[in-house]
Amino acid sequence: MKNILITGGAGFIGSHVVRLFVNKYPDYHIVNLDKLTYAGNLANLRDIEDRPNYTFVRADICDFDMMRRIIEEHRIDGIIHLAAESHVDRSILDPFTFARTNVMGTLSLLQAAKIYWESLPEGYEGKLFYHISTDEVYGALELTDPEGIESPFTTTASSSEHHLAFGRKFFLETTKYNPHSPYSASKASSDHFVRAYHDTYGMPTLVTNCSNNYGPYQFPEKLIPLFINNIRKGKPLPVYGKGENVRDWLFVEDHARAIDLIFHKGKPAETYNIGGFNEWKNIDLIRVVIRTVDRLLGNPEGHSERLITYVTDRKGHDMRYAIDSRKLQAELGWEPSLQFEEGIEKTVRWYLDNQEWIDNITSGDYEKYYDRMYGDR
Ligand code: NAD
Ligand code: DAU
Repeated sequence: MKNILITGGAGFIGSHVVRLFVNKYPDYHIVNLDKLTYAGNLANLRDIEDRPNYTFVRADICDFDMMRRIIEEHRIDGIIHLAAESHVDRSILDPFTFARTNVMGTLSLLQAAKIYWESLPEGYEGKLFYHISTDEVYGALELTDPEGIESPFTTTASSSEHHLAFGRKFFLETTKYNPHSPYSASKASSDHFVRAYHDTYGMPTLVTNCSNNYGPYQFPEKLIPLFINNIRKGKPLPVYGKGENVRDWLFVEDHARAIDLIFHKGKPAETYNIGGFNEWKNIDLIRVVIRTVDRLLGNPEGHSERLITYVTDRKGHDMRYAIDSRKLQAELGWEPSLQFEEGIEKTVRWYLDNQEWIDNITSGDYEKYYDRMYGDR
């Protein structure tokens, strides 16, 4: 029996990781620890909440005494740490909350695990602190490579060979950290603390840096679910700047599979980049989302294009993210399972079939936040 603590398990990616572990490992006890901020939602886990190998605990990772109690009480062997403030726009409005949760919260969890694991006769043997981080810590890539090739190379899902053939720039595990937003600065800081606990105390740790995720259960402040919901409601689609920024998109279940593989087979103290070589310019991606939603709603082709509204750019908006995940592919054999077109179709269908889920969370506080963010646009 292994006791695994998953933090942030009521959020978007965390809920997919919790579901995968609870279903796949009946011999593990999965403890989902989440503060249930605006982004945490237990409705994401209805299908597994009664399982005998699952426990939910509502707690704040910044509460150090509570972290010590939970880790000791559940005799935790492994931690998969996803709890965080995750939205760049919110970090621009409120950087303190990001420093508190992402930096101090991670430190509190590390120290609580250290005290418990060092108190055991076996010490760190069989233990692991796995920290989930982001590609944003590497900073931003240029839109145009030195060779004069503009990114993205094409706007269809393409293979790594196709992308790598022209010596284009990607984030590697060795790329120097260069975060720009308060969100990415807080994530970078937490990554450094995790590595410091390995280097200083010998704690077995792992860090992975993943590209943009999309799929079911993502809070509708992030680009894809926000736009699906706005198209459904006939509301404007606020495109930041010229819509030329590039993101590298991965279906969330593929990220969860990578986390499972790395948790079990990754080498402690290592870093792995996770991404699907799937770059899209925002405006091209938005057009795919519009076409898909219109088709599934039975609207004429191009019907919702009129909702595209160019708005003031995000402050310090990173131009391009692109992950090179060949290390993970070569060492552990991971590959994304879905082509982007399939992933988007699945995602749009899910949001259209689960309107109650989205309506429940887009009332109250979220609407107030949305007005504050976009009211002047
Ligand atoms: P999310 O915002 O959907 O979920 C975050 C979860 O953490 C929520 O359930 C929230 O209630 C919980 N939480 C927040 N503060 C907490 C606290 N103080 N104590 C306990 N729980 C708290 O985020 P997500 O998109 O699922 O991201 C999960 C992790 O993956 C984050 O660490 C993020 O930085 C990282 N990441 C996200 C992406 C992405 O595209 N979404 C990509 C790469 C990495
Ligand atoms: O790269 C990984 C990161 O991806 C994660 O670490 C973050 O937690 C996650 O939120 C995501 O960050 P982004 O800032 O890239 O995601 P977001 O969905 O907010 O925006 C995607 C792109 O779309 C970005 O270039 C900004 C743009 N955008 C976003 C919103 C919400 C718009 O043009 N309009 C919008 O309304």
